[in-house]
Amino acid sequence: MSLSSLPVALWGIGRHATRRLLPAIEQSKSLKLVGVCTRNMDLGQTTATNMQCDYYGTPEAMLADERIEAVIVSTPTGLHQQHGVAVLSAGKHLLCEKPFAHSHQSTVDLFELATKTGRRAVGALMYKYHPQFKKLKSLIQQGTLGELRALSIKFGMPALNANTFRDDPTLGGGAALDMTCYPLSLAYQLLPRPPILRASSVMTRDNSNTDTDGWCGLELDGVVVDCHWGMGRAYQNNLEVWGSKGVLRCERVFTKEEDHESQLVLYDHRGNKETEINTGPANAYVLMFDTISANLNNSDFFDSERGETEWCAGITDQILRES
Ligand SMILES: NC(=O)c1ccc[n+]([C@@H]2O[C@H](COP(=O)([O-])OP(=O)(O)OC[C@H]3O[C@@H](n4cnc5c(N)ncnc54)[C@H](OP(=O)(O)O)[C@@H]3O)[C@@H](O)[C@H]2O)c1
Repeated sequence: MSLSSLPVALWGIGRHATRRLLPAIEQSKSLKLVGVCTRNMDLGQTTATNMQCDYYGTPEAMLADERIEAVIVSTPTGLHQQHGVAVLSAGKHLLCEKPFAHSHQSTVDLFELATKTGRRAVGALMYKYHPQFKKLKSLIQQGTLGELRALSIKFGMPALNANTFRDDPTLGGGAALDMTCYPLSLAYQLLPRPPILRASSVMTRDNSNTDTDGWCGLELDGVVVDCHWGMGRAYQNNLEVWGSKGVLRCERVFTKEEDHESQLVLYDHRGNKETEINTGPANAYVLMFDTISANLNNSDFFDSERGETEWCAGITDQILRES
């Protein structure tokens, strides 16, 4: 198998797959799209024609195709476990959209199955592959801000269209499941060890079927992490890192268009703006696909991803249980 062209199929052609995954798969030199699977025949056939690949009307047809080595799952969150089991049991690698699964137990079960079948399983949290995040992580690790005191993370967006899976508890809807994987992953990535959940709250507004808003506070050795998330509010996904000698602000830390000129802004110990560091535009999805494909034979990479994904799922469970 050539690592430069991993044969993949895409399961689910919803909003996210159409806007982000298909264009990134097309751009990525490390993947070869063999086919797409959706129950919507017209959409499937049109997409297959546009992408010059096959269309599968059923998951069984897709999973029986021996050319396919990995499946990218972009179906509703509440189905990730069921679909992940089908992919791994068919002997394919699993690249699953965020959140990887709907609970800690289902997350652990999927990774266990991957070990048993000798296949790779990994969650698709693309922000980690963007040069903006890589630069901010290296600045923090180099001690540019002195000792860490606090991370403040805000991720919110306007209300989504009604009648999507996010409104449906049986399909894994709700803001906590949808959004907490980002700030929790960020805290895991930036701190030397996983922090402890100290407090949290989850809210439901406007008679929604699922939770719409929440916050949590975590702590590690006196470093405080506060996270806010919610739907039905102005868009932002920002990070502020507060150190003993400086402050770093990072806008659009999780999601951005590929032509977005990303930046990090540093402030000195008196609060004066010191430097703007340009980290450029990039397509984080393409970089994610390329990195995952290049690491297919590197167990350390997948073990480390598994540790982070299981920890995040455990904290999300705790937040939902305690609210
Ligand atoms: N990484 C990111 O930036 C990002 C951004 C947005 C979303 N996501 C994630 O991507 C995933 C998909 O989100 P989306 O916004 O694209 O959702 P969506 O628009 O509702 O699309 C879901 C897809 O799942 C398919 N599906 C298969 N079985 C289904 C079933 N039993 N019921 C409903 N749908 C079924 C649907 O295809 P058919 O009905 O045609 O079969 C549809 O194509 C979610 O896990 C979400 O969290 C990630």
